[in-house]
Amino acid sequence: MSDAQKFNEALSYLKARYPHSPQVGIVLGSGLGNFSDEVEVEAEVDYEEIPHFPVSTVEGHKGKLIFGNLSAKKIVCMAGRFHFYEGYDAEQVVFPIRIMKLLGVKALLLSNAAGGVNPNFKVGDLMMITDHVSFFTRNPLIGKNISAFGPRFPDMSEPYKKDLIEKARDIAKRLGIQLREGVYFAVTGPTFETRAEYKLVHALGGDAVGMSTVQECIVANHMNLPVFAMSVITDIGIREEENKITHEEVLQAAKEAEPNFAAVFKEMVRVI
Ligand code: HPA
Repeated sequence: MSDAQKFNEALSYLKARYPHSPQVGIVLGSGLGNFSDEVEVEAEVDYEEIPHFPVSTVEGHKGKLIFGNLSAKKIVCMAGRFHFYEGYDAEQVVFPIRIMKLLGVKALLLSNAAGGVNPNFKVGDLMMITDHVSFFTRNPLIGKNISAFGPRFPDMSEPYKKDLIEKARDIAKRLGIQLREGVYFAVTGPTFETRAEYKLVHALGGDAVGMSTVQECIVANHMNLPVFAMSVITDIGIREEENKITHEEVLQAAKEAEPNFAAVFKEMVRVI
């Protein structure tokens, strides 16, 4: 079956389940699934029901597409995303992002849990992603270019849209929420980094390190879909003592930061 047929089948299925066109697409990262409680839900579709959708396997990810109203806009929200480390190929990881674009979204809001390597960061901080480094993860555009989506060699000079970053700065100031800014360094996982790796990530220009987001950002840029992204700093990679990091700790820290995260994302949807 051709790529075009796969996209068409998934799209037709979703259009039958939800007839409206969402304006904003949202992806919820690890431990941030409760954000979906903010949505006035109009339709929920389990990933496993959607033709050609992969199925999420990670604990802390709910695995469904939520359609509804948020901040006076129609939105579609992925509660649970697909990660390269789960064994999906990069094309599968980004399949839902392409579907969101085909559904009509005009902007994409991404979120994730990430490890802090900027020495000024602390657990629970929110970091707006201003740029990324991703030499060590597979580029999802490798392979035959799908020219209906975008060009062979997409520009990546503004992977996270400057005007959206500016809007988030204003929102954070207005709400009195401290919003860090920095470079997200993508790794495949599923191991957390060694001490030496966290140091290297910092030396190579990263402020935070994580296992998602960048492949989604790349295909969105390919399709000329504006991206805004935010990390919740769930652990500190560079520390002298007790460098053990667990998935439970990551989920707990994300849950605790969720109210501030939700406040910023809700306002972003309003002003987009
Ligand atoms: N490293 C990579 N990915 C992560 C981390 C980390 O320290 N924390 C949450 N996701």
